[in-house]
Amino acid sequence: MGYPHMRMGLIAMISALACPLLVGLFIVSASHAGAPIEARTLKPAAAFNSISDPAEKSVALFREAGAVIQHPRCINCHPAGNRPLQGNDMHPHAQLVVRGEDNLGSTAMRCMTCHRDKNFEPAGVSGHPLWHLAPIEMAWEGKSLGEICEQIKDPKRNGGKTLEQIVTHMAEDTLVGWGWNPGGNRTPVPGTQAAFGELMKAWAATGAVCPPA
Ligand code: HEC
Ligand code: HEC
Repeated sequence: MGYPHMRMGLIAMISALACPLLVGLFIVSASHAGAPIEARTLKPAAAFNSISDPAEKSVALFREAGAVIQHPRCINCHPAGNRPLQGNDMHPHAQLVVRGEDNLGSTAMRCMTCHRDKNFEPAGVSGHPLWHLAPIEMAWEGKSLGEICEQIKDPKRNGGKTLEQIVTHMAEDTLVGWGWNPGGNRTPVPGTQAAFGELMKAWAATGAVCPPA
């Protein structure tokens, strides 16, 4: 009884190992993480309670959240062009990887061919079950924090989300959460997703005011 099961398990194991090994071959020539960026922490939302003007407080909260939003870990998947970006210097993805029609890669080079459902440490390849690019209307690369702020509030450019859904996405989405657990030698985004979520909630509660573009 156990035998066919074991064989399936073995086949699954071999195929799970094979791709990252191939990826490993690529990496030898392709890995350059770029200059290290300064590690910092995230101020808690309560640190802004002394600001009495709600609009001013809202902007200050969003600016603090911007340390996460404008981090390479996020921007690399929200590029303005046709290719994902890599590293702290946000260089174009190696191996000529492109977004493709569905943001999941070209027919020949699907994201999930190399990226698995979780980070693969032996080869330093990032992973998540839904690893793919943010659609072009959600591009953040090259935009000011104020521009990104207006864009994420705009249902035409944020995937039809309400402000509440955007806040929940920031606070709870696991693809966003990857930023705090990026694997390899990548610099994580600052703070914790919970603290980031609190900043976004407080920002929404104070009128979701954007910094000037
Ligand atoms: C692996 C690629 C990937 C990474 C890394 C990533 N995103 Fe995204 N992001 C996406 C995709 C794909 C979507 C669209 C699908 C969706 O809404 O879930 C998206 C959508 C969003 C949205 C909603 C739409 C909008 O307004 O842009 C927000 C907010 C967001 N991401 C925030 C973040 C933040 C903050 C980080 C970094 C901590 C991050 N993302 C990192 C792929 C990524
Ligand atoms: C041929 C294999 C391969 C394919 C296909 C591939 N990737 Fe990658 N990707 C890698 C490897 C290897 C790394 C790690 C390299 C490094 O960190 O220097 C990587 C790293 C990344 C990073 C960098 C994370 C960071 O913040 O530094 C992003 C973003 C990314 N890939 C997105 C994608 C997306 C989106 C797709 C599909 C459109 C995709 N990749 C398709 C192999 C691939």
